[in-house]
Amino acid sequence: MSETHFGFQTVKEREKARHVRGVFDSVASRYDVMNDLMSLGLHRAWKAYTVAVAALREGDKVLDIAGGTGDLARAFARKVGSRGMVVLTDINEAMLRRGRDRLLDAGQVLPTALCDGESLPFASGSFDVVSVAFGLRNMTHKDRALAEMQRVLRPGGRLLVLEFSKVAAPLAKPYDWYSFKVLPLIGKLVTGDADSYRYLAESIRVHPDQQALKALMKDAGFGHVDVHNLSAGVVALHVGIKC
Ligand SMILES: C[S@@+](CC[C@H](N)C(=O)[O-])C[C@H]1O[C@@H](n2cnc3c(N)ncnc32)[C@H](O)[C@@H]1O
Repeated sequence: MSETHFGFQTVKEREKARHVRGVFDSVASRYDVMNDLMSLGLHRAWKAYTVAVAALREGDKVLDIAGGTGDLARAFARKVGSRGMVVLTDINEAMLRRGRDRLLDAGQVLPTALCDGESLPFASGSFDVVSVAFGLRNMTHKDRALAEMQRVLRPGGRLLVLEFSKVAAPLAKPYDWYSFKVLPLIGKLVTGDADSYRYLAESIRVHPDQQALKALMKDAGFGHVDVHNLSAGVVALHVGIKC
């Protein structure tokens, strides 16, 4: 049985999804407030940038994978209008329920699907744009997930991967201090769960950096991939075109 990373731990591949589920079951109810606290609100700017780069048009069909509490899906739905469609998906029921409730609170009724990004229940060529924000890092087989994202896009369609990445060298030390000392402390104070936020910091360190992720996307069949570094590489937006 193959092994993989769960943060800095090595676990059996078939067990990783259970560990990841435990993290998001634990944080779902405080997920949004923690996002604002941990990123000092920056995640809103990163997502707004992603929505701008998506350049959606009225009538577009969009799939948001690992969409969680629905920030991107909500913004996308405003862009595609009533002729378009945005599907919110996630593997975790607690996160997806919060996402659906927040959409309903905002007056938006979108199709939602509980599904694994590594095995998507959609026909090939169904979407103009696919997005995955801060979700790919948690997937066991990133190559399979990227191949699935490529499959469900129409030719010429775009994949947007917003994810933590490798920070610029001068910021590495303060960023490590913040990640390993401050984040778990905030997690403990706000959610009573330091471990899930320790996992967050560790999972970022074992995730492919900008160039490695670009190579993975090319291997998955994206003919052209652009990389946009945000906040000195704390986060990167990769945009892949299915050529
Ligand atoms: C950090 S949250 C991101 C949520 C949202 N996209 C955002 O940017 O706020 C990561 C999400 O990835 C989901 N996830 C983890 N593994 C997944 C998988 N294999 N397939 C689909 N979603 C997954 C988790 O359940 C969680 O909701």
